[in-house]
Amino acid sequence: MRSYVALCLLLAIGAFVVDAKKKDVEDELGDLLDNIDAAEESDDTPVKKETVKNPCEDHACGWGKECVVGKKGEPICECISKCPELDGDPMDKVCANNNETFTSLCDLYRERCLCKRKSKECQKGVHAKAHLEYLGECKKLDECTDELMAQFPDRMADWLFQVMKELKKRRELHKLEWEELLQEAENDDEKRHVYPVIWKFCELDTKPHDKAVSHHELIPITAPVIPMESCIKPFLEGCDANNDGNISIKEWGKCLGLKEGEIQERC
Ligand SMILES: *[C@@H]1O[C@H](CO)[C@@H](O)[C@H](O)[C@H]1NC(C)=O
Ligand SMILES: *[C@@H]1O[C@H](CO)[C@@H](O)[C@H](O)[C@H]1NC(C)=O
Repeated sequence: MRSYVALCLLLAIGAFVVDAKKKDVEDELGDLLDNIDAAEESDDTPVKKETVKNPCEDHACGWGKECVVGKKGEPICECISKCPELDGDPMDKVCANNNETFTSLCDLYRERCLCKRKSKECQKGVHAKAHLEYLGECKKLDECTDELMAQFPDRMADWLFQVMKELKKRRELHKLEWEELLQEAENDDEKRHVYPVIWKFCELDTKPHDKAVSHHELIPITAPVIPMESCIKPFLEGCDANNDGNISIKEWGKCLGLKEGEIQERC
């Protein structure tokens, strides 16, 4: 029963679009991935000069940073001076990788930025390495027992199948190919897990799209799920079989229970 409840929650969150708040968080996580280190590269970003417009307009700064116009009219990324006021919703809080609760994703990445730049406002030097662990306040996570861990690949593959079905219903799979493959999966028990597992890999491997899923690319799948499924993180860490810091499609497929011949590149 307990795992059924958790699975339902997992489903609701996995399908993401359920309500506006979750959608916001999704977008934020997407932005986070786009921009997490953008500012570090900002110096050599060409600035269009032809039109008179705000130089910050198209200038992406990393998360926790904002663009300000410098003396020569150049865009500069600085740590956000003030995060937006919040309405006190406990779900705005985030837990960082050092098990420390921050008021919001903005506060966490603002602090990280301040500490990286050794600003006086930085509260603790170690925050230079802080990143998002999961959404919500830090808490004592359930133990990931051997039994739960052993069930996890199957649960996760099944969850991905359900998420894919839900997205198809909402016409949010975005590619005809995936709709067709899902149909095959629905009609063939052998394939039930195969295509959803490959689909998720393609979904995750976008920033950058390099046939490998890095730690950063896993944040959107782990951050909402860790509070309910304590096995997801150790499980995914274990998927990087050769320990090179990324998960390849082969490692991903094998880890989620696919057979050698079933693992194909589709993205
Ligand atoms: C993380 O912090 C929470 C809340 O303060 C605490 O209950 C929990 O035991 C901590 N977890 C670890 C692994 O230290
Ligand atoms: C794997 O990750 C490392 C850094 O962790 C990166 O340099 C390397 O290019 C990645 N490999 C692939 C195949 O993307």
